[in-house]
Amino acid sequence: MNYHVMTLFPDMIRQGMNTSIIGRAMEKGLLSLDCIDIRAFTKEKHGHVDDAPYGGGAGMVMQAQPVYDCYLHICSEIHAETKPRVIYLTPQGKTFDQKMSVEFAKEEHLIFLCGHYEGIDERVLNKIVTDEISIGDYVLTGGELAAMVLMDSISRNIPGVLHNDISAETESFSDGLLEYPQYTRPEVFEGERVPEVLLSGHHANIAKWRREQSILRTYERRPDLFHQVEFDKKDRKFIKEQLGLLLP
Ligand code: ADE
Repeated sequence: MNYHVMTLFPDMIRQGMNTSIIGRAMEKGLLSLDCIDIRAFTKEKHGHVDDAPYGGGAGMVMQAQPVYDCYLHICSEIHAETKPRVIYLTPQGKTFDQKMSVEFAKEEHLIFLCGHYEGIDERVLNKIVTDEISIGDYVLTGGELAAMVLMDSISRNIPGVLHNDISAETESFSDGLLEYPQYTRPEVFEGERVPEVLLSGHHANIAKWRREQSILRTYERRPDLFHQVEFDKKDRKFIKEQLGLLLP
């Protein structure tokens, strides 16, 4: 996976992505990260990349030209034969989720466009952007943190990035359910014992208990997700007994 980030704050992205699992994946050559300063492409003699909005109003708008030239530079660097995927981070976009994360992870190159100020000239967005993505219903000061959220999540779906590949599959969302609770030593903490079944060594019982915990958690915390899951016969029996719900 090769990430290319178009931004006014390239150091913010470099510093944020350099640590931990993502940093190691870059060292191993599983990922690359290219942060490109949009300001380097301005033709304005004072280095401005923004101007007042036509029609008036507060704030400044990022101009089309430096963004477009930055994009063309990336396209020539990656020898793009087809239009590359360009993700514009904006609260107006589709809300990011695990399914999108898995889809994006299949691309060879991903270009992120981070906006600032009151937005970016619509004409360049229409020309280059393939996906408009939001990380939630709140407004950030720029797209950089959102781009990092996406890169962190997408990277976990790339083979070899996580130590154990199964952990990406068994954790929250992979089957539409939240993850079951986890425990480690000691057996008793502040008077509270680890659930007995986890000490039993009985793998089938442990798997059953974990599945049930996932179901209960999802029902309590994320009823919106719960109602989208396809449950099997055993699950439905448990749900009827525990929650008194009759699923179709
Ligand atoms: N830029 C500003 N706010 C944002 C959000 N919520 N998601 C993605 N990009 C943004």
